Amino acid sequence: MKTGTFNFVLGLSVGLVIAYMGITYFASPGTLGLSASVKHMTISEDGPRVEVPRDSFLTHEDLDKIQKIIRPVQFQDAHSHHDDNREAKELYDQIRVLRWVMTNPQNLEKKAVHVRATWGHRCNKLIFISSVTNDSFPTVGIDVPEGREHLTGKTMKAFQYVSVKQEYFSGGAGYIISKEALKRFGAHGTNASMCRQDGGAEDAEFGKCMQNLGVKVGNSTDRFGRSRFHCFDTATHLMGNYPRWYHLLDAHGGQSGRASISDYAISFHYVPPARMYELEYFTYHFRPYGIHFGNQDLNQEMT
Ligand SMILES: *[C@@H]1O[C@H](CO)[C@@H](O)[C@H](O)[C@H]1NC(C)=O
Ligand SMILES: *[C@@H]1O[C@H](CO)[C@@H](O)[C@H](O)[C@H]1NC(C)=O
Ligand SMILES: *[C@@H]1O[C@H](CO)[C@@H](O)[C@H](O)[C@H]1NC(C)=O
Repeated sequence: MKTGTFNFVLGLSVGLVIAYMGITYFASPGTLGLSASVKHMTISEDGPRVEVPRDSFLTHEDLDKIQKIIRPVQFQDAHSHHDDNREAKELYDQIRVLRWVMTNPQNLEKKAVHVRATWGHRCNKLIFISSVTNDSFPTVGIDVPEGREHLTGKTMKAFQYVSVKQEYFSGGAGYIISKEALKRFGAHGTNASMCRQDGGAEDAEFGKCMQNLGVKVGNSTDRFGRSRFHCFDTATHLMGNYPRWYHLLDAHGGQSGRASISDYAISFHYVPPARMYELEYFTYHFRPYGIHFGNQDLNQEMT
């Protein structure tokens, strides 16, 4: 595979699937890509905003409350570890992943810096997209005002930036997009009759745009039907205290519990910065002594 060719891009995850079901998520202007795509749900932009009742699952408001300003921590990966990471390294070279993260100037120090210090740097290319260029962070400024009503525009412009400026095709805020999907976006994404350029609900609009480009939504569960993308925090997926809409709208009825979550999960939502460091520790450093982890083949047959 040609270096500089990116196969997949991460942007908003579950959004794409749910977008087809006519539901709108709101991401605050402070939203960061992958781990922060879902704010509380409201029933469609056009209709009245109905706040969905919730019990104990985390929301963006909760995150803001518990969020302390913390200093970034740099983890040293190498010391005393004897992990066999040859396959991970091969995959890193063979399947190149570009990740772009939507942020804004107010969130650079509060959130983006922690994304960069944890999961952000574990892909081939990481780009922070904001309304203002900041050469020292760095962020790429795209010409769209901040605010949730412009999220669609921000996503569309960000895709255009990564597909044109970076000379490879790439994707939006919390989904994984194939190279072919991005090629199609690069070719037709500025056509307003296929892809709304701003306004509406960002993930729903992006979903419609992809549909108009003939891009299909894939089944992201593993071959045991276990979930890889998670639109709540980890504890909620383990305990299952979901709001009712989730059971109605999730393609698999809103399963919960350890057995419903893939060992190769990809994303969880509502991860505050301090927990990003916890997860970094548990994922890349913590090891129950005496267990040597083997690879599992959990991929589904693709049809
Ligand atoms: C760029 O970001 C840094 C934080 O990383 C901040 O301290 C600085 O003020 C920003 N510069 C501009 C011009 O916004
Ligand atoms: C935009 O898309 C529509 C619908 O597919 C098509 O008819 C039209 O020719 C396209 N416009 C351009 C400029 O490509
Ligand atoms: C996704 O794949 C799993 C496992 O093969 C299957 O059980 C499930 O029904 C599929 N879901 C959809 C929406 O097709």
